[in-house]
Amino acid sequence: MLEKLKRLPDDPILGLAAACRADPNPDKVDLTVGIYMDEQGICPVFEAVQQAQKALAAEEITKAYIPPVGDALFNSGMQQLVLGTNSQALADGRVASVQTPGGCGALRIGAEIIQAAAAGTRVWVSDPTWPVHIPLLGSVGLSFETYRYYDPATHGVNFDAMVEDLKAAGRGEIVLMHGCCHNPCGADLSLSQWEVIANMAEQQGFIPFVDIAYQGLGDGLEQDAAGLRTLVARLPEVLVAASCSKNLGLYRERTGAIIFLCQDKTNADALVSQALVAARRVYSMPPAHGGLLAGRVLADEKLNASWRSELMTMCQRINGLRTDLATRLNKTGKGDFSFIEREKGMFSFLGLSPEQALRLRTEFGVYMLDSSRINVAGVNASNIDYLVESVGRVL
Ligand code: LMR
Repeated sequence: MLEKLKRLPDDPILGLAAACRADPNPDKVDLTVGIYMDEQGICPVFEAVQQAQKALAAEEITKAYIPPVGDALFNSGMQQLVLGTNSQALADGRVASVQTPGGCGALRIGAEIIQAAAAGTRVWVSDPTWPVHIPLLGSVGLSFETYRYYDPATHGVNFDAMVEDLKAAGRGEIVLMHGCCHNPCGADLSLSQWEVIANMAEQQGFIPFVDIAYQGLGDGLEQDAAGLRTLVARLPEVLVAASCSKNLGLYRERTGAIIFLCQDKTNADALVSQALVAARRVYSMPPAHGGLLAGRVLADEKLNASWRSELMTMCQRINGLRTDLATRLNKTGKGDFSFIEREKGMFSFLGLSPEQALRLRTEFGVYMLDSSRINVAGVNASNIDYLVESVGRVL
């Protein structure tokens, strides 16, 4: 029976990263998968995480299972990080969370909860969105509709079109939003636009599900969560998928959290119980290591301060690279790339055709997604000239 199965195409993101790794071209540039890389092209381990890891290694006496809900320090730390330490919802006991295997696990558990509440619920996703969103949420049986979001002509959000489309999102339907640093386009909503969405959700009764995988890499930890916090302050129900992959650099440790904002504490407890049953069905309990590290970093004053300052340096470096790249690409005279500077986080579309992206790969060893999404954090002083020259050549 199994022999009937055909080989599937490689993942459009991870497959390209693997192809780049295998490319012997000494000038190759990897702008594929969304990981932060420093000037040396290395994805570093935060100093605070290294210290937490040393302490943990010295103290750890068991590898017995952790509770399915995850580490308590981690859960409270994540709730405060995402919602803010003075969140009214937190004070009211309307928030609950469960540690998950990465932000993906959070999305999946969120989907399970939605499916349990109303099978086949319609989820509105931005056009475009991270390509894994639909298979991840869809695998439990939810259905999808897209709302217009990115306008390639202006390289910005087409907010009027987004609002127009979301007028059809009804009571109990889900609107999946990127909390900050939109993946793949880097174009984010302004705070007043978040207010408009909050008004619509209030009036129409749709429920936002916010994926905030890049908090801290746009403008800063607090600024990047401001839109989401606007929703949380106004609405009875919001789901949040948070990840420690990027902002704590815990990529391979698969560390994330699903956070529920509920009507009251009884409902919050009910959702946790539902999440635990769903988790038991899929993976039983989350991996311990990343949650224990993140929990320590978030709870310890010194480690927390060190982590925040290192993260801010990364954020500023990405923004500096955005300015640099836009300036240099503009100098090629092949177009106006100033939008790169206006966008946020790791990603921007360069606006190239799939053929041009393919030429960049095969002729120059410059790897970006077929959509011309680049990971800005993969640019550095040693590859920027070559990158700009190569892009200029295919344009
Ligand atoms: C990306 O979009 O490159 C990241 O979110 C990593 C991934 O898993 O796709």
